[in-house]
Amino acid sequence: MVSTTTASAEKKKAAKPSAAERFGILEMPDLTYTKAIARETAPLYEKVKHHIPEIEWPVHAPYVYWINRLKKERGAVILAHNYQTPEIYHCVSDIAGDSLQLAREATLVDEDIIVQCGVHFMAETSKLLNPHKTVLIPDVKAGCSLSESITGEDVRLLKQAYPGVPVVTYVNTSADVKAETDICCTSSNAVRVVESLDSDTVFCIPDEYLAMNVQKQTKKKILTWKGHCEVHERFTAEELLAYKEADPAIQIIAHPECHPSVVKVADYAGSTSGMIEYAMNQKPGSKVLLVTECSMASNIEKEAKGVEFIKPCNLCPHMKRITLPKILESLVYMKQEVDIDPAIAKKARRAVERMVNLKPN
Ligand code: 13P
Ligand code: SF4
Repeated sequence: MVSTTTASAEKKKAAKPSAAERFGILEMPDLTYTKAIARETAPLYEKVKHHIPEIEWPVHAPYVYWINRLKKERGAVILAHNYQTPEIYHCVSDIAGDSLQLAREATLVDEDIIVQCGVHFMAETSKLLNPHKTVLIPDVKAGCSLSESITGEDVRLLKQAYPGVPVVTYVNTSADVKAETDICCTSSNAVRVVESLDSDTVFCIPDEYLAMNVQKQTKKKILTWKGHCEVHERFTAEELLAYKEADPAIQIIAHPECHPSVVKVADYAGSTSGMIEYAMNQKPGSKVLLVTECSMASNIEKEAKGVEFIKPCNLCPHMKRITLPKILESLVYMKQEVDIDPAIAKKARRAVERMVNLKPN
């Protein structure tokens, strides 16, 4: 019999060294706004000057400068979701995109360290697809109301109650939930994923509204769950119709996490990157209302030349947990590392890879 002391010593020996132990920690740099920092960051300020007053730039600039410098020294890449704030999106990220784009890009980057500026499920997805890379999230508490609406145990019970019905899980879920899933989907491919399955009835969980929106585009019977996005569930068709009444030429662009009644009054519905593309293709002088998280309009406003954005502003508190100071801390102290139980990761990876490898129509 193994004594407790020996067992815990063995366990300690087997424990993987932390990212800080593997890569070492650095000293926190001096965050003074020097002339050199002002000069180096000036081109980046140009990209965000519509959103950050000049008087505030000296606070952001040293973080931007040191993040970009340490990112190179560490050999790290920064992936940022479209909802990140303009200073993250424009000044420090290497790749920005929607959930599917970030999942795909995560498999293509050469760097050994990924800093995920987004919410926890996105960092987990990057880790699933890159088990040998180090994935850091600047704030481990950056969650998601959809992800928190369901557990792996809930999915096991659904499968017991409905044997043989395939389960499509939105990528906005924990690895535990993905592990119980046949295939993942995102807002940009949900219909295609559902259609790819050889079954007349399909679970599309946990976003009830996404599932209802998918139901309108497929003959298959969709079963779902009562999860909602706390940002998108707040938009109503009435408020959007009031905008349309005031100006019928307004283009309404909605995310499919909105209630179907909201999507119905929209001129276009799609993933965050789909929404960006649609907005970018509007003629100068058009007015566009983005029915989604506020930062996105701020991020694309400058490039969408001549398009006026109307912002019924809803912030995602989870996305907003990621800040420049926390990104710098991640790079200095190599935290917070995302790790997934290997047995869960193996099953969850299958579901994500199956989605990533699905051929486009
Ligand atoms: P996208 O995949 O469209 O970027 O959506 C992610 C998300 O969390 C939207 O709320
Ligand atoms: Fe989750 Fe909604 Fe925030 Fe997206 S916007 S991360 S779905 S809570």
